[in-house]
Amino acid sequence: AAVHAADLVVFGGTGDLSMRKLIPALYHSDRDGRLAPETRVIAMSRGGLTDADFRGKVDAEVRDQVPVDDPAVWQRFLGRLHHVSVDVGGPSGNPDKSGWAELSKQLAGHEQRDRVFYLASPPMTFGPFCRELHEAGLVTPQSRVVLEKPLGRDLPSAQRINDEVGAIFDERQIFRIDHYLGKETVQNLLVLRFANAFLEPIWNSLWIDHVQITVAETVGTPGRRGYYDQAGALRDMVQNHLLQLLTLTAMEPPARNDREAIRDEKVKVLQALRPIQEGSEVDRFTVRGQYTGASNAPESGAAGPMVGYLDEPASTPPTEDSKRVETFTAIRAEIKNWRWAGVPFYLRTGKRMPRRVSEIVVQFKDVPHSIYPGGSPNRLVLRLQPEEGIELHIMAKEPGAGETTLKPVPLSLSFGETFTARVPEAYERLLTDVLAGNPTLFMRRDEVEAAWRWIDPILAAWESSPEPPEPYPAGTAGPAGAHELLGRSGRAWHEEA
Ligand code: BG6
Repeated sequence: AAVHAADLVVFGGTGDLSMRKLIPALYHSDRDGRLAPETRVIAMSRGGLTDADFRGKVDAEVRDQVPVDDPAVWQRFLGRLHHVSVDVGGPSGNPDKSGWAELSKQLAGHEQRDRVFYLASPPMTFGPFCRELHEAGLVTPQSRVVLEKPLGRDLPSAQRINDEVGAIFDERQIFRIDHYLGKETVQNLLVLRFANAFLEPIWNSLWIDHVQITVAETVGTPGRRGYYDQAGALRDMVQNHLLQLLTLTAMEPPARNDREAIRDEKVKVLQALRPIQEGSEVDRFTVRGQYTGASNAPESGAAGPMVGYLDEPASTPPTEDSKRVETFTAIRAEIKNWRWAGVPFYLRTGKRMPRRVSEIVVQFKDVPHSIYPGGSPNRLVLRLQPEEGIELHIMAKEPGAGETTLKPVPLSLSFGETFTARVPEAYERLLTDVLAGNPTLFMRRDEVEAAWRWIDPILAAWESSPEPPEPYPAGTAGPAGAHELLGRSGRAWHEEA
């Protein structure tokens, strides 16, 4: 596809996301020839930087993160970068108008270019920024807006943001990011399911016992308490990333590989999620945990002691919110439709877990009648990270002339070994799609709202519960409740099975 000249305006342009993900992704796009020669990146921040300052900052902070094999390409990339200072203000907006005038000046004369406003700023700024852009006359028919997560903190706030942004931009211009959709293995899930004939006939409650979706991280939340106290694992990870993985695993085959057909099917899954009723169901079907300090956590490979959530470095001391926020959650979800009736989907995510691993585990039912002793693994594992791959755990006979002994073994596909090409970062794919105007891998309004509709009653029940989250030592696989959640029905998490 031809690459169009574009102006990419990044709010929060010198922030963490921008410096760690967006700028490196744009550099890769440039290096691989996916940016038109005229394409510019305009970072907006309070920083008071000149273009030269900003280029210096990127040179100092990003150059070492990316492969610079040709210094000329790096210089060309730096030349695309600009900076505009804007006091973006707090929740009330109230920005310093001179910044907007400066942005207008930069963009003037380029109305025909694709224009992307990337809001990598807190969600309460989304509405005010869109209004300011509109009032400054900067929203052209070729404009798009990208919204970073979190999109609100519950259904009403998400609806408000969607209304505010929707008052300025058409839905087709709005790109809501969930970077998990940009991950290679996540896209591969659709290919695996819909470009192969053997899986679909058994991809249902007749053959599948249950599904596990795990996103475990070894990182904690140092320096992030301000955000995390208000978020927690349910808002930070489940509402978006884990539910996206669930929809792709559970969706019906779309009729076409197109933006609306795929998103239509995903929404239907979210709408079919059985609501977890406040009260005893929340206690039975959900688990919350918070990590505590651990003197050593050998499994996690940590060198020394790890502090608990409440002792993580932060600019302010912990509050009541800090004590109640979950850094781990596990949930038993159910999808009320023909294909999935009675098949639990166990979702699990946590900080300071023993290993970094994101995977979808599809556990098939046992053989109906076994002539051998013991059960059989019958399990398909899709690993998103690290080491992207697909494993089918099957039972095999161990070689030997004596008594037949069976052994579970994996049939395994490692993407790293099978494909030699570099695996791009999620943001590279997503930014390429934004620039090309392709919204397939972005969340539609109804999708985000359907996800919140399922999350809200769980949040409400947790908030009204007198109990704090269950403690788990940093570097362990979550609180005891997580094991009971499966253990009660005779199941176990993949790594324990
Ligand atoms: C982000 C969350 O959306 O995803 C972080 O806010 C989390 O808390 C991150 O660490 C995980 O992303 P990845 O790509 O490292 O799995």
